[in-house]
Amino acid sequence: MSFPMQSAAAGSRRWDVVGVGDIDVDMFLQVPVLAGRDEKVPALLLGEHPGGMIANVTCAASALGGATAMIGLVGDDEYGAAAVAGLREFGVDTSLVTVVNGGRTFYCVIMLDSSGEKALTAVMTDCAWPRQEDIDPDWFSNTRVVHLGGDYVDLATWVSQEAKARGALVSLDLEASTAIHGLPRLRPLLASTDVLFMNHAGHHLFDRDPATAAEIALATGPQVVVVTRGATGVLASSGEGVVRVDALPGPVIDTTGAGDSFIGAFLMQLLSGRPLDDACRYAVAVASLSIRSIGSRTSLPDHETASGLAGETTFTLTLEETDEPRPPS
Ligand SMILES: Nc1ncnc2c1ncn2[C@@H]1O[C@H](COP(=O)(O)OP(=O)(O)OP(=O)(O)O)[C@@H](O)[C@H]1O
Ligand SMILES: [Mg+2]
Repeated sequence: MSFPMQSAAAGSRRWDVVGVGDIDVDMFLQVPVLAGRDEKVPALLLGEHPGGMIANVTCAASALGGATAMIGLVGDDEYGAAAVAGLREFGVDTSLVTVVNGGRTFYCVIMLDSSGEKALTAVMTDCAWPRQEDIDPDWFSNTRVVHLGGDYVDLATWVSQEAKARGALVSLDLEASTAIHGLPRLRPLLASTDVLFMNHAGHHLFDRDPATAAEIALATGPQVVVVTRGATGVLASSGEGVVRVDALPGPVIDTTGAGDSFIGAFLMQLLSGRPLDDACRYAVAVASLSIRSIGSRTSLPDHETASGLAGETTFTLTLEETDEPRPPS
C-alpha cells in the first residue's frame, strides 16, 4: 500500500521537516498514583528535560537522519536556554527560533505513575507558541514537510495555507488542545492538511471508533490519517485502505512524547517514499524505544536501530484494501 502522495520536492529543499509550535522544558515528578480531585499525593522530582510536542518531532526526525528546523518562541530565561540547547543537541536548526527579552519560557509539569502513564499540566506563559510576526512564510519554500499543532487555530491555519502555497506538505498533530476548538473552526486547517495525526483525544472529535474517525477525517481534506492508540498501537488510513499495527511489548517507563517520536519517524518514512504499512511499523518501533526512559527524547533511536528493530519484529498487521479509490473531497 503506497502513499497517495508524492514526496514534496525530494532533495531540493533545505529542511525535511520544519516544526511550528511549542518548545519547552518538562519537569518530571514520580507519584504513586495520579492525584484525583481534592487529593494530595507525595512526589519525587525525577528531573527536567527539554520537550514540547512539536519540538520533540523535529528531534526524532533529526535523530533518524532528517534535516530539521524549529520555529518557536522562548524567553531569555534558564528554561529558554535549556530548551534551545536541547534542540541543538539533536542537530535541529534553531536559527528560526525567536528569543523574547524578559519572556518566560513555556513549561510542563508531568506526573508519572508506576505504569509509565502520565498526567500533564502545561503552564502557558507569554512564550508558549510562535506568533505570526515571528514567521517568514518564505521559509516554507525550503521545507518538505511543515509539522504543526493546532492549539492556536488561526495561526496554524495561516501557516498551513502559506506552506501549501509554497509546495510543502502539511502535517498536523490533532491533540486535545486542538480538538477543543471544535470541528467547524478546524475545517479550514484540515482542508490544508496532508497528513493528520490524532491520538485518543483527537479522534474523538470525529468519532469514538478510531476507524470511523479516520474515515470521517479523511473526507475533511488530509490524504493520510493516522490514529495513534497508546498501548493498542496504530491505525492509518488513506484512500487506498486501512493499516492496523499493534504496539510492541517492552518496558514502559515514560510514555511522554511517544506520539511525537512516532510522528517524526512516520514523516521521515513518508519523505523516503515508503509505503503506509512500512511507515507504521517503523514508527511503532521508534515509539516503543522512546518510552524506555524518563523524558520525551532520552531514548530516541537512530535510523539503523529503528530499521533494525522494525525489520526483526513480527508485527501484528492488518491491511484492508479499499476496492474503489476514494473520490477527492
Ligand atoms: N504503553 C505503551 N506501550 C507500548 N507502546 C506504546 C505505549 N504508549 C504509546 N505507545 C506507542 O506510541 C505510539 C503513540 O502513543 P500515543 O497514542 O499514546 O500518543 P500521544 O497520546 O500523542 O502521546 P504524546 O502526546 O505523549 O506524544 C502508539 O501508537 C504506540 O505505538
Ligand atoms: Mg501526542
